[in-house]
Amino acid sequence: MSEIDAVLELATVKVGVVGAGLVGATAAYAMTLRDSCSEIVLVDQDESRARAEAQDIAHAAPISHGVRVSSGDYAALKGSRLVLIAAGANQKPGEGRTELLEKNAEIFRQVIPQVAQHAPGAVLLIATNPVDALTDLAVHLAPEHAVMGSGTVLDSARLRWLIAQHAGVDATNVHGYVLGEHGDSEVIAWSSATVAGLPVAEFMAARGLPWTPEIRAGIEAGTRDAAASIIGGKRATYYGIGAALARIAERVLGDRRAVLTVSAPTPEYGVSLSIPRIVAAGGIEASVMPKLTEDEKAALERSAAVLRAAKAKLGL
Ligand code: LAC
Repeated sequence: MSEIDAVLELATVKVGVVGAGLVGATAAYAMTLRDSCSEIVLVDQDESRARAEAQDIAHAAPISHGVRVSSGDYAALKGSRLVLIAAGANQKPGEGRTELLEKNAEIFRQVIPQVAQHAPGAVLLIATNPVDALTDLAVHLAPEHAVMGSGTVLDSARLRWLIAQHAGVDATNVHGYVLGEHGDSEVIAWSSATVAGLPVAEFMAARGLPWTPEIRAGIEAGTRDAAASIIGGKRATYYGIGAALARIAERVLGDRRAVLTVSAPTPEYGVSLSIPRIVAAGGIEASVMPKLTEDEKAALERSAAVLRAAKAKLGL
């Protein structure tokens, strides 16, 4: 390889997307509009679907950022800095994420070894549900790769959005984390949530806004049940998760050391789950457990127990 080719290879920030369904394609579209990377390759067992999605997204590139978007087989993943895994079935109305476990685990047992072979050194970003158990499975199938799951990054965004609506402020001025499972047992860390740097209740009092157990419960339900509500109306979610995946990818590719509640193996709980983590070029640089009340600690342990049971079903 010539020197210039080596420089060009280093300059290319390539992302692979395996699974060109609604989530994978929307994430690729979001990365194109946000200029998250310089090249995207879509891989799917349905080659015509991958080709059509890549072509459709590529037509947005000249109007937004000149991201090169294409489709191919697993070999086309060569040189990817990050590979997003969105392959698998998604929830149907009334179906829980955990009901997808066996079906999607079988798909992972086919897909992950191929990705590991063709994208050595890439960070693997898992989006397929149930994301925490499948993150554990991906870690097992690709032990040489840095692996993280989208976890509760989307749930934390939903929480912040709901609090911001009630507080009447921009959601970027709201900080708060959802911990544990990306699912029904997730834990809202109210004790560390803030608006404009103030604990939520203090902000609401300072602004003369109502803040009752019922309002707080409504925000919890709105966060926890968002996917079921959206799926009931349009059969799938993809815009929120697509944007979340693009953001995680950008923080990895840009070595930004952003704090995100991605899912990853958490030794103290014996399972992959979401807590705040510093996300950088090589994957997760550190984890930062927020201060929790005794109730929040107990809820997180319950969530971890749910995830350990799912992990055990996979024989891990
Ligand atoms: C949701 C899917 C990504 O929460 O699990 O929308």
